[in-house]
Amino acid sequence: MPDIWTFHSAGKLVFGAGAVARLGQLVSELRVGRVFLVTDKNLQRAGVVERVCAPLKAAGLSVQIFDGGEPEPSIDLAEVALAAARDFRAEAVVGLGGGSNMDLAKVTAASLTHGAPARAFIGDCKVPGPVLPIVCLPTTSGTGSEVTAAAVLTDKASQMKVGILSNDLRPRVAVVDPELTLSCPAKVTADSGIDALTHAIEAYTAVDNERFPLPPGEKTVYQGRHPLGDCLAEKAIELVGKNLARAVREPANLEARTGMSAAATIAGLAFSNVGVALVHAMEYPVGGAVHVSHGAGNGLLLPFVMWFNLPLRQRQFARIAQLLGRDTAGMSEDDAAQEAIRAVETLKREIGIPARLRDIGVKEGQLADFAAKAFNVKRILRVNPRETTPEAIEGIYREAW
Ligand SMILES: NC(=O)c1ccc[n+]([C@@H]2O[C@H](COP(=O)([O-])OP(=O)(O)OC[C@H]3O[C@@H](n4cnc5c(N)ncnc54)[C@H](O)[C@@H]3O)[C@@H](O)[C@H]2O)c1
Ligand SMILES: [Fe+2]
Repeated sequence: MPDIWTFHSAGKLVFGAGAVARLGQLVSELRVGRVFLVTDKNLQRAGVVERVCAPLKAAGLSVQIFDGGEPEPSIDLAEVALAAARDFRAEAVVGLGGGSNMDLAKVTAASLTHGAPARAFIGDCKVPGPVLPIVCLPTTSGTGSEVTAAAVLTDKASQMKVGILSNDLRPRVAVVDPELTLSCPAKVTADSGIDALTHAIEAYTAVDNERFPLPPGEKTVYQGRHPLGDCLAEKAIELVGKNLARAVREPANLEARTGMSAAATIAGLAFSNVGVALVHAMEYPVGGAVHVSHGAGNGLLLPFVMWFNLPLRQRQFARIAQLLGRDTAGMSEDDAAQEAIRAVETLKREIGIPARLRDIGVKEGQLADFAAKAFNVKRILRVNPRETTPEAIEGIYREAW
């Protein structure tokens, strides 16, 4: 049982409005000349790509733009990006976008370095060693991928999201400039924002580090709750409570955007060391089978999983209620804990996350298959505070249906 905990992050984190102006200097310090930039056409149209390329070019760097990024990228798309990066003889890979583009950039760097396709790295600690420098700039406030050890791809064949987890995938530099999120559409702001909240809540309520059930001989980047993870998760939850609904309502509000950028990155620091749990395991089959964003799928499932975990995490839930701005004075711990779930339910409604699985096209007949698939995502299920069975997971899906 682990009772030693560690903490990993991006090599350098640069945060604040206007931070992107420093990008040329930051990349030059990596002693690279040829930079492969992974992004997408929405960000081209929004002028975000231009804002990021300008400082790179001013620093004399040679930049190749790959704008073929897609939401929830597939393993096939990773092959396309890899071929382009190889032709260009990239020396560093920049990920500009939401989690989708940043993850594609991370996988591209790993494949280019180790001469193996993305598929070879699926699972925990399968990347053989350090990779070409990765630099990430988030344009959503959600995944935290700019600091995390994860890259998530869609396996179209098995209709599942698959994860590559390795500390070698942590970016060398993360530049978090909230101005890059100003053009984020309301739906993306809502979906990615509730993903950040899910990361923070799953980290804050994870199994304790001392009880982390890692089978002998297995390696993982996750390690259960520890004190530093708790500090970060608390801050992230508070920031989401103060800023998410406002950022959705007032997209040009830089203060709310800055709060959400901080929330997402800080939640990323927490969960990428502590772990995510049952909500994420249950979202993987849903996201693989129907058209729903990762964030919306997580947000939909979050309160239902919280009801399931409630008996084991009352103290933490009661604190979450306060962090989300609820007045719990005079309440019993049990009532205060339930208040946290109600706060999440209210936020979900307020920002337009679908209420039920049937609303996003899931058929009742799919639930048993989803439960079997989710139960197999052992590397994250073991982070959950309460043990699960396929039957219990199916029960939660039914509640959420
Ligand atoms: N690596 C990790 O640690 C990690 C963690 C959680 C989730 N994920 C993965 O990240 C992906 C989701 O990422 P996401 O929620 O950030 O969304 P996303 O990257 O899929 O982006 C969603 C859409 O928003 C558009 N967009 C993004 N920023 C914009 C902006 N500023 N202006 C205009 N349009 C913009 C994109 O072009 C895209 O079409 C999923 O694949 C998920 O599984 C990864
Ligand atoms: Fe997530």
